Amino acid sequence: MTAQKIIIDTDPGVDDAMAIFYAFLQPDLEVVGLTTIFGNVSVDIATRNALVLAELANRDVPVARGAEKPLLMAPKPHSSHVHGTEGFGNMPPRTPKGQAVDETAAEFIVRQINENPGEITLCPIGPLTNIALALELDPSIAGKTKSVVLMGGGLELGNVTEFAEANIWNDPHAADRVFAADWDVVMVGLDVTQQITCGAPEFDRAARGAPVLGGFLSEATEFYLEFYESVLGEPVCRLHDPSATVAITRPDLFTIENHALEVIVDGTRIGQTVRSSSQGRRPVRVCMGVDAAMVKELFLSTMESGF
Ligand code: BDR
Ligand code: CA
Repeated sequence: MTAQKIIIDTDPGVDDAMAIFYAFLQPDLEVVGLTTIFGNVSVDIATRNALVLAELANRDVPVARGAEKPLLMAPKPHSSHVHGTEGFGNMPPRTPKGQAVDETAAEFIVRQINENPGEITLCPIGPLTNIALALELDPSIAGKTKSVVLMGGGLELGNVTEFAEANIWNDPHAADRVFAADWDVVMVGLDVTQQITCGAPEFDRAARGAPVLGGFLSEATEFYLEFYESVLGEPVCRLHDPSATVAITRPDLFTIENHALEVIVDGTRIGQTVRSSSQGRRPVRVCMGVDAAMVKELFLSTMESGF
C-alpha cells in the first residue's frame, strides 16, 4: 500500500512532538509538510520547534509558518504552564539550521491539495485558524481534501474549561468553519484522548529503543508529566496529539459516531463542541471509543523503531 500523504498543522508542544515523530517513523504515512500555528507557544516558537523536530528526525520536509492569532477574537495566553515557555518542557531552545518556506501555512495547504487532489489528509493538532484561512483562500479545497483528522474538541469533556478543549477554545470561530465545510472530518477529541495515558516508564522505553527521538521525548515530557501530576494527582500524561496520527493509520482502533457539529463562540461555554441542529451540516466522524492499550502500544513500538 502506498503511504498516505499528510500535512500536520501543529503548535509544538510536547505532545505535538510525539505526533510528528510517530508520523515520521510510521511507514504508512508520508509527511508532505508541517504548518505551524500559535497555541501552546507563539507561532514563531512553533515554527522554530517544527524545524528542530524535522531536523532531529533527519527529515527534509517543508515547514510553513501560519497564523499568529485567532480569526476574530483576542488571543489567549500560550500554554507555557503545560508545555514550558519554549514548548518542550524545560529543554533549552535549539536553533534550527533551516528556515520556513516563503508561503504561508494557508497558501502551502491550498497549493498541496490542488496539486494532489483527493490525496492529502490534513492533520491539525493545534487551533484550526490555518485550516479556516485555507478554506477562505480557496473554498474548492473542501472537495479535494481526502480527509481532515483533527485533535480537538470533545462531546462529553473539556480541559481548559469544564466545556472546552484547548485547540477549539483557542479559535472557536475557525473550528466552527472547519466543522461547517463540506468535507470528511474525523474528530479525535478528549472523549478518546483522555483515556490514553502514558508515564515516565513508557517514555524511558522509547528512549532505550530510540535514544535520539525517544530520548528527546523522555526529556521533554518531564515537565509535562509534572503538570499532569499537579492536576490529576498522578504522573501520567494524555497522548492527545499522537492519537490523531494513530487514527489516520489505524482507524479500526476507534469507535465512531456520526454527528453534525458546531462550536459555541461566546458565553461561558465558549469553545465547546456540540451536536448541531442546523440543517445541511455534514456529519463529523466523532471518535467516542478507543482501544487505548493498542493505541499506546502502537505509538511506543513505532517510537522504538526509530533511532
Ligand atoms: C491539545 O492542546 C494542546 O495543549 C496539545 O498540544 C493538544 O493539541 C490538547 O487539548
Ligand atoms: Ca498541539
